[in-house]
Amino acid sequence: LARGADGRDLAGRHVVVSAGGTREPIDPVRFIGNRSSGLQGYALARTAAARGARVTLVAANVALPDPAGVRVMPVGSAAEMREAVLQAAADADAVVMAAAVADFRPAEYRGSKIKKSEDAGPEPIRLSRNADILAELGRVRGPGQVIVGFAAETDDVLENGRAKLARKGSDLLVVNQVGEDLTFGRPDNAAVVLGADGSRTDVPRGAKEALAETVWDLVAARLEPRGA
Ligand code: CTP
Ligand code: CA
Repeated sequence: LARGADGRDLAGRHVVVSAGGTREPIDPVRFIGNRSSGLQGYALARTAAARGARVTLVAANVALPDPAGVRVMPVGSAAEMREAVLQAAADADAVVMAAAVADFRPAEYRGSKIKKSEDAGPEPIRLSRNADILAELGRVRGPGQVIVGFAAETDDVLENGRAKLARKGSDLLVVNQVGEDLTFGRPDNAAVVLGADGSRTDVPRGAKEALAETVWDLVAARLEPRGA
């Protein structure tokens, strides 16, 4: 019903999805990374394409096949992801930041491999803060553009989620509870989707595809009507 007779409720829309996890280079052989598999972002890209959207998938360090009919922009670091996402977002109806973006990067990149030495202890790695892409999207967004963030939280999951949603200026925030065994690299996911309008949608543990469909339902409901 909500998706219309042919299920292609995103036809004529351009959506941007980020997926995977950024890697912040330390030297030519090492990086600071995270455990994001990219599965949720890829599920979002696939389901949006199936619903008729033109999809740009900004993919950081994933080992997954390109979804059919989706434009994939591979990136490595958070800085590269920022550039690709902002470029793709320029004419997008919706942007979904499913990627795990590193908050910090090594303050300086060492062009040569760091060697251990016999007579000195290990040097600490100084870090600099990365730009917050989601917050920037919230600031520069075009009229009617829908912005969606993801948050993995522990402890006061909902309270943290509400505060983060407000801080980022997004329309929707998909909040996952994480622990040792939850979420990362698993095909299923349970989440609560918080809306800037105060809404709350609980998504039971299930396939990442099901969460993706719910996200697009909530996005579609917030897009301005199109055409005749
Ligand atoms: N995000 C982003 N750019 C960053 C960091 C995060 O765009 N530099 C996006 C993520 O893609 C995600 C959302 O922001 O959609 C929330 O990420 P999260 O790490 O939970 O938020 P942070 O603001 O970094 O807060 P925290 O201190 O909890 O890590
Ligand atoms: Ca973070």
